[in-house]
Amino acid sequence: MIEVADLHKRYAQAKQEAVAGVSFEVAEGEVFGLLGPNGAGKTTTIGTMTTRVRPTSGRVVVDGIDVVADPVAAKLRIAVVPQRPNLDRSLNALENLTFHAAYFGFGRRERNRRAREMLERFGLEGRGDDRVDNYSGGMAQRLIIARALMHDPRVLFLDEPTTGLDPQSRLFLWDQMEALKARGVTLLLTTHDMAEADRLCDRIAIVDHGKVIASDTPRGLRKLLPGAEGLELTLAADADPVDALRTLGGEVESEAAGEGTWKLRAYGEIAPGAAIGAAEAAGARVLDLRRIEGTLEDVFVHMTGRDLR
Ligand SMILES: Nc1ncnc2c1ncn2[C@@H]1O[C@H](COP(=O)(O)OP(=O)(O)OP(=O)(O)O)[C@@H](O)[C@H]1O
Ligand SMILES: [Mg+2]
Repeated sequence: MIEVADLHKRYAQAKQEAVAGVSFEVAEGEVFGLLGPNGAGKTTTIGTMTTRVRPTSGRVVVDGIDVVADPVAAKLRIAVVPQRPNLDRSLNALENLTFHAAYFGFGRRERNRRAREMLERFGLEGRGDDRVDNYSGGMAQRLIIARALMHDPRVLFLDEPTTGLDPQSRLFLWDQMEALKARGVTLLLTTHDMAEADRLCDRIAIVDHGKVIASDTPRGLRKLLPGAEGLELTLAADADPVDALRTLGGEVESEAAGEGTWKLRAYGEIAPGAAIGAAEAAGARVLDLRRIEGTLEDVFVHMTGRDLR
């Protein structure tokens, strides 16, 4: 549904490229995440896919349409929730929705029907006549997403859609995104919330300094860090049972945890049953077993470093 190939963007007068050779593909119905530090080039990359930014070079195809060659056709198929709110402050909330639908060619009745349905769906019923200036930040964000959905886009681009939202609104938006995915809408989102990316995205590209530095499923990315996956066992035994767990194949660490007990960490993709079996075969008793799971945040910081951008 989206194909970006060797995309470059250098803004006028900029010393460095904002996007320096980015390539990725997104399949229909996928949720694809673009992660990266501030200034990595995420918004610029989204800008090229949504016709707002003209690429310096490279290919950007959305739903079979070359976005640079035919921006008008591309715009009919996509919708954007931009990083910065861009509601029309001279219009009320309902008008923001209906004007958008008019732009996409919907007749009056249909525009009004859709707008009211969207206000209700996004918890804004009864607030359609409010000036959007009087909306709170979170309400405005919900209205922007409602507006994006007015014309039933096939692809939805969301640039940090949950930044600044309360936990309720964030959960609500996650539900909305999952519902859109279930209906076959393709989603491309950016976020600085690694737990959110882990939960929502089928695949993720981590970008830094305008380049993709890693791309995989959330789980695949988490496994990039050594020691990100494994089991931690607390065992009671007469002697350190570390050798028993070595038979499982991975790296094993052991530390004494008081009288006759040891805490062992066995790294790798190890089945809990196999670990328990190995420990018991060596005469140890399993007091506790838990999974070791690295977070996407660990991987992100490992890959992009700690320097401010
Ligand atoms: N209109 C513009 N003109 C000149 N430079 C720009 C423009 N927009 C972005 N840039 C520069 O391009 C680089 C990438 O910016 P971009 O907004 O794409 O980053 P981002 O990954 O979205 O960051 P953030 O997480 O802070 O939103 C930055 O160095 C930025 O200063
Ligand atoms: Mg941005």
